[in-house]
Amino acid sequence: MKGIEAGNNLLLGVTGGIAAYKSVELARLFRKAGVNVRVVMTEAATRFVGPMSFQAVTGQPVRVRLFDEEHEAAMGHIELARWADHLLIAPASADFLARMAHGLGDDLLSTLCLATAAPVTVAPAMNIHMWSHPATRANLSLLTERGVQVLGPASGEQACGDTGPGRMLEAAEIVSGLMYPRKTGLFSGKRVLVTAGPTREAVDPVRFISNRSSGKMGFALAEAFAGQGAEVLLVAGPVKLDTPAGVRRIDVQSARQMHEAVFDNLQGVDVFAACAAVADYRPVSPSDQKIKKNAERMELTLVRNPDILADVAALENGPFTLGFAAETRALADNAGTKLAEKGVDMIAANLVGENLGFDVEQNALLVLWPGGEATLPVQDKKSLARELIGILAEHYQ
Ligand code: PMT
Repeated sequence: MKGIEAGNNLLLGVTGGIAAYKSVELARLFRKAGVNVRVVMTEAATRFVGPMSFQAVTGQPVRVRLFDEEHEAAMGHIELARWADHLLIAPASADFLARMAHGLGDDLLSTLCLATAAPVTVAPAMNIHMWSHPATRANLSLLTERGVQVLGPASGEQACGDTGPGRMLEAAEIVSGLMYPRKTGLFSGKRVLVTAGPTREAVDPVRFISNRSSGKMGFALAEAFAGQGAEVLLVAGPVKLDTPAGVRRIDVQSARQMHEAVFDNLQGVDVFAACAAVADYRPVSPSDQKIKKNAERMELTLVRNPDILADVAALENGPFTLGFAAETRALADNAGTKLAEKGVDMIAANLVGENLGFDVEQNALLVLWPGGEATLPVQDKKSLARELIGILAEHYQ
């Protein structure tokens, strides 16, 4: 991925789609990071968000039309194409990708795509069916063959009500994808999905069952994979941590939401690392209202949550699976049982308890795989994560 840095000139192309509103925040974040931003919109984009919004956050005039004497006199389109160190099109609609793929130059933005020598990145945004249409797939592969970089799309609920891939990445994810491009390393070209943090299982609108996981181990793991060139998606329970640079993140609350987020995003994943402390049980019927303190005793009936790791490991042709085992005793025996019972490729086991494993800066791991094991001594979770993925790389097929 060819990235950009503070001081660079970024030409931000905005095309017609509901996600255009996110691009105002995108321009603002790039400005905040010290990047010079100029915006070019298609006519269709102006139906979704006004040029004034971009002008306000960039402090620069926004261009829409190719034949615009006033703007051409100030900075002609060829000059604008030369000015750019990077051309980012976000959102990139299906129509605009098609026009790019066919080399059209029938408006200012498509002309700039032809005229610029700078790297071009697109952040697609469209309905799931448009995204999976063979025409869009073919246009995109033509563009990537020509060196156009693609960021996203994300998967999830769409403005049109459908659910699946097609949503533009969040502004912060695009900024971090371009400003902290993936490095080459042990996992270059690989997609890794990491779960981290606790889950919360609602008892009533104000209470929940959870655990002490801070997410530190899982976030360190995501950072280590990204540092070794992987494209990382982090599915995080409720934690108070910043997203590591270059990592895409989806926040969830409950085990069932985490299960859904993982399975929605599993396509093409090479390694699944389950570091989250997922609640094994949830209240069978959480109350709609705050439960009153009337009775002397109260009983809460719990029901088993789906086991995300076991479900991923059971997939035919699924990803390589790294599970964690949090144990208060008999670490090696319990971890060995989990390795076999969950059918995972590797288990990283840690002792947990008061000031151990959960919510502390340091940790130690016993790593097991069929036919082998390694001990990683107590150290900072970030360096532990780097050592762990080094071992994983040796066993990953
Ligand atoms: O977040 P920190 O404060 O940094 O703490 C790190 C940690 C101690 C939470 C972490 O290192 C760790 O051990 N994570 C796994 C915790 C856990 O739930 O362990 P487990 O032994 O109960 O589960 C075994 C494996 O199955 C885990 O990979 C877990 O993510 C997975 N699992 C469990 C239950 C479930 N319903 N779905 C799952 O995917």
